[in-house]
Amino acid sequence: MKIAGELSRRHGAGGTDPRLARIAPGFDAPFFQAGLAGYSDAAMRIIARRHGCPFCITEALLDRTLLAGGRGFTKADLGELHDNIPGGIEDHPLSGQIMGSHPKEMAASALKMAEQGARGDKAYRTLAYKDDPELWADVVETHLRLPGGEQLGRSGEVAEWQGDRVEESDSAWSCDAVDEAPDALAADSRGASSTLPLRHSATLPLSFETIDVNLACPVKKIKNKSRGGHWLTDPAGAMEILEAVREAVPAHIPCTLKIRRAFDDTPEMASNFEKIFDAAYRIGYAWATVHARTVEQKYIGPSRWTFLRDLVARHPDKIIFGSGDVWDVNDIFGMIGYTGVHAVSVARGCIGNPWIFRQARQMLAGNLPTAPTIPEQRSALEDHFKLSLAVTRRFRKGEEQTSKMMRKFAIRFSVHHPRAEEVRQRMIAVRTAAEWFGVLDTYYGDK
Ligand SMILES: Cc1cc2nc3c(=O)[nH]c(=O)nc-3n(C[C@H](O)[C@H](O)[C@H](O)COP(=O)(O)O)c2cc1C
Repeated sequence: MKIAGELSRRHGAGGTDPRLARIAPGFDAPFFQAGLAGYSDAAMRIIARRHGCPFCITEALLDRTLLAGGRGFTKADLGELHDNIPGGIEDHPLSGQIMGSHPKEMAASALKMAEQGARGDKAYRTLAYKDDPELWADVVETHLRLPGGEQLGRSGEVAEWQGDRVEESDSAWSCDAVDEAPDALAADSRGASSTLPLRHSATLPLSFETIDVNLACPVKKIKNKSRGGHWLTDPAGAMEILEAVREAVPAHIPCTLKIRRAFDDTPEMASNFEKIFDAAYRIGYAWATVHARTVEQKYIGPSRWTFLRDLVARHPDKIIFGSGDVWDVNDIFGMIGYTGVHAVSVARGCIGNPWIFRQARQMLAGNLPTAPTIPEQRSALEDHFKLSLAVTRRFRKGEEQTSKMMRKFAIRFSVHHPRAEEVRQRMIAVRTAAEWFGVLDTYYGDK
């Protein structure tokens, strides 16, 4: 294969820039699984890894969700803690992605993520809010409500911060729903039980290899406050966030950036991108993943690969990853060949298609990619369901939740089957594990 030879010439044996593995040990191929809100939990990540994916990113977790820690706070509107917890030894190298509106909250939550909550929930909230009563008032107003609407916390924690000792909570990184090391995820999915409490994870290889700051998400601006891709309209604010996070995260943990090519197609927004992009590397960010659509485009219309090609040409020393319009394995190497990016972010192209990673490994080795056989599909579908059950097993309706989750994947998984439409119809009707395995027995053969 031409591209395999070209990559070996560029980077030596393995065809991958060696800096990637120096930054995130194990990142040994020029592609990875993107953050995909609502999909890329530990189960999806482990399945991807078992098919050759060398590096994964969690979905964007809102800083306030992280700081809330899951107790006594209403859930913020993005990301679930349990989806973002590392799934054990198999789930590495892993990047934890955060997103938010205020440098102090972003810094405290990035630190909490990096340390896996080793200091206790309140300590991180103290870092974020102690010297900023206005910000705290906003948190109380918008987030400290029980599901019924009852407001919490105004006197409690604020009083502590006004001179009283801040008590360490032992909830650590974990929310109520997940209190065991997901190290046991894989073991659990094979029927073994877990014993390791998550809060001891600081001593286990369960933390994140890198922390990724999301300045790309197109979800609407909230109450006039920027977050995600909306920071592209406010480069000074974006830089403050980048600086605060880099400063807070221990120096040995690399920080990285996810960004879009601009907010819209005006010259002002193009210039904003340049400012933020340059600042990130100046501040010490290891790489930027650039989604070559604008924020306004959301996920529609083409990702502008010419933009990536120009960016890489203008910044030959910087590590740059590309994102957008990667639907199959040929797109991975098409993007690398055309733009020169150091790695490709695989997003919608890997939902229900972990084989894209195997195929990419095959092509990297100079071989032709092979389609998944029916037994291979069965094995992935079975493992994915079991791993998903392990992720949701702490919930009262874990099996139901897993079935719901797997229905989302089914639409994409089923296209690999010769009787795709029939399989899809059966999979989206699944409500229990028994039904899922029943579909597998009917269409994928007995194991
Ligand atoms: C359902 C969905 C959820 C996403 N969630 C995230 C996320 O949490 N973090 C992130 O960096 N990007 C997220 N993205 C963006 C993707 O990582 C990627 O940049 C984008 O889909 C473009 O790639 P594609 O055209 O190849 O899918 C999401 C995209 C989709 C479709």
